[in-house]
Amino acid sequence: MTASAPDFKGRTVLILGGDGFCGWPTALRFSSLGANVAILDNESRRQIDAELKVRSLTMISSLPERILAWAGESGNHMGLFRFDLATDYPALRNLLAELQPDIIVHFAEQRSAPYSMRSSEGARYSIDNNVRVTHNLLAALAETGLDPHLIHLGTIGVYGYANAGLQLPEGYLRVTAHGPDGRDVKKEIVYPGKPDSVYHLTKVLDQQLFAFYNQYYGLRITDLHQGVVWGTQTAETRRNPHLVNRFDHDPIFGTVVNRFIVQAIDGTPLTVYGSGEQARAFIHIRDMLTCITLAAETPPEPGERVRIVNQYSEICTLNALAARVSALTGAKIDYLKNPRREPEDNEFEVSRTILTSLGFEPNTFEDILAAEIADITDILATQSPDKSEFLKPGI
Ligand SMILES: NC(=O)c1ccc[n+]([C@@H]2O[C@H](COP(=O)([O-])OP(=O)(O)OC[C@H]3O[C@@H](n4cnc5c(N)ncnc54)[C@H](O)[C@@H]3O)[C@@H](O)[C@H]2O)c1
Repeated sequence: MTASAPDFKGRTVLILGGDGFCGWPTALRFSSLGANVAILDNESRRQIDAELKVRSLTMISSLPERILAWAGESGNHMGLFRFDLATDYPALRNLLAELQPDIIVHFAEQRSAPYSMRSSEGARYSIDNNVRVTHNLLAALAETGLDPHLIHLGTIGVYGYANAGLQLPEGYLRVTAHGPDGRDVKKEIVYPGKPDSVYHLTKVLDQQLFAFYNQYYGLRITDLHQGVVWGTQTAETRRNPHLVNRFDHDPIFGTVVNRFIVQAIDGTPLTVYGSGEQARAFIHIRDMLTCITLAAETPPEPGERVRIVNQYSEICTLNALAARVSALTGAKIDYLKNPRREPEDNEFEVSRTILTSLGFEPNTFEDILAAEIADITDILATQSPDKSEFLKPGI
């Protein structure tokens, strides 16, 4: 973490997907750090929840209520724009020209691997939505000639989860090829994507779009290859019940940490899929905010290639995570047949030099998991006297 709080006074920050799990606390953080914040979201995620008949464990307010509550708490007014980034290109271009943002943080994508793999409809929607959103944004920046710092939330899953036999680099792989005269030629190339789902594939395609628009239009882009985000509340979302962040625990959008926490609170066994030796990278939502503001404070120089940053706090196996939750709560552990097509175990070593060099000090499960479980238990007790209704994962 930086010694002093970053200051974004006088800067305009546009948060694409600002109603989502990551986008909402990010909008609040930039606003609390003095930025003029605008949120753009088509609320597609709320519609998907309704289609799947699932809901956040925390009772999230409508987007206008959230923004009103923040204005009441902080005195800061955030702009709100509601349209579909994938289909309304003119609205996007006009908004950018009007706002002239200094920083754009791009979260506006369908983000569930299981959703993208559940049907051809889910796969087609994920590609259509995510690739079009990213391309519309890049095309609009090129057309308007604006030069904001674009920060995109990508995923560490672009590297794939099969054993790579090497420490995964930050986006670029050093290779030695042979020149026409047989001499060794050293190059750095974008690490070849190895997505395990259509969702991850969209992030691999995003990478190609970023590389092209960076090369031809000089756009300044940071692509954060992020691990699985866990945790719920941040300093800002705690300030008022209308600001609470979402907590997904259904089988499509709920990630493994949330599932284990809910199972432990419910007194049912933690369900580990497969051998449990699958290693993944994790990051708490508060660490995510630290990393995004660090990235925002240090934009790429004009002419610099796309800056790819691995963003995670800790790597651990599902077995290690389940053991930790079990030790804290006494929950039993059940092993189920793995419904996903993924390697049963993997070595997963991922470089994280950029954020470390910027002073990032990660929080680990050991540091904060107990507090997180207590937090969710409290939220549940206040929000839902009949917790059984809320603990149903839906679908
Ligand atoms: N949550 C994680 O664990 C995690 C991990 C790594 C990367 N990421 C990335 O971070 C980003 C945000 O993830 P999240 O967990 O907050 O997801 P989320 O579903 O909670 O939020 C995404 C938001 O984007 C909006 N959106 C989607 N398509 C849109 C469109 N066409 N036009 C306008 N708005 C649109 C949705 O309505 C939603 O509010 C995603 O790109 C995701 O891939 C998330």
